Amino acid sequence: MRREKLKKTLRWIGISAAIGFILIQFVTPERTNPAFDQSLAIAAQAEFTPPISTMIKTSCFDCHSNETRWPWYSYIAPVSWLVADDVASGRRHLNYSEWGKYPKSKRVMKLAQIYEKVSRGEMPIKKYLLMHPDAQLSAADRDSILSWTERERDRLTEEK
Ligand code: HEC
Repeated sequence: MRREKLKKTLRWIGISAAIGFILIQFVTPERTNPAFDQSLAIAAQAEFTPPISTMIKTSCFDCHSNETRWPWYSYIAPVSWLVADDVASGRRHLNYSEWGKYPKSKRVMKLAQIYEKVSRGEMPIKKYLLMHPDAQLSAADRDSILSWTERERDRLTEEK
């Protein structure tokens, strides 16, 4: 008798969870890639070698540019909400597609922040790397990015 009741309760929990999962799918976050002026993007504004440009594209662009590659799991709630939040917050903090819109002082500051985050291994975010192993930076990659931030900072501060 009691087993029957337990079974019934479990079935209801299962059905409610399934309905809940279906219902949250209707709450879709915006997955935008706003248009931007290519001439203001970092590729046109900064000086770097192709390997560094590729590293930044592969490891940072999904959250720090208007060229996000929205993955399949960004279509499934509740993960979609987390991904969209990361991208919105990432773009707010640093947007490589709008690099040229930053005044020089801000670009210099962002370069210092990139140095800090990359040298501490805090970027790319760990949970992102689980799904994007190709975005993992090796020690040598990190070193190249770090010395690039210094070169670019010097170039900007020496420029008239
Ligand atoms: C999965 C998304 C994601 C990826 C990939 C990613 N970031 Fe971030 N990044 C964020 C978020 C979210 C923030 C804001 C919250 C924080 O500071 O942790 C941030 C913050 C930053 C900041 C701080 C800016 C400030 O205003 O303090 C820098 C610098 C940065 N990221 C650099 C990078 C670099 C360089 C890469 C690539 C090597 C990278 N990020 C890859 C999501 C990401």
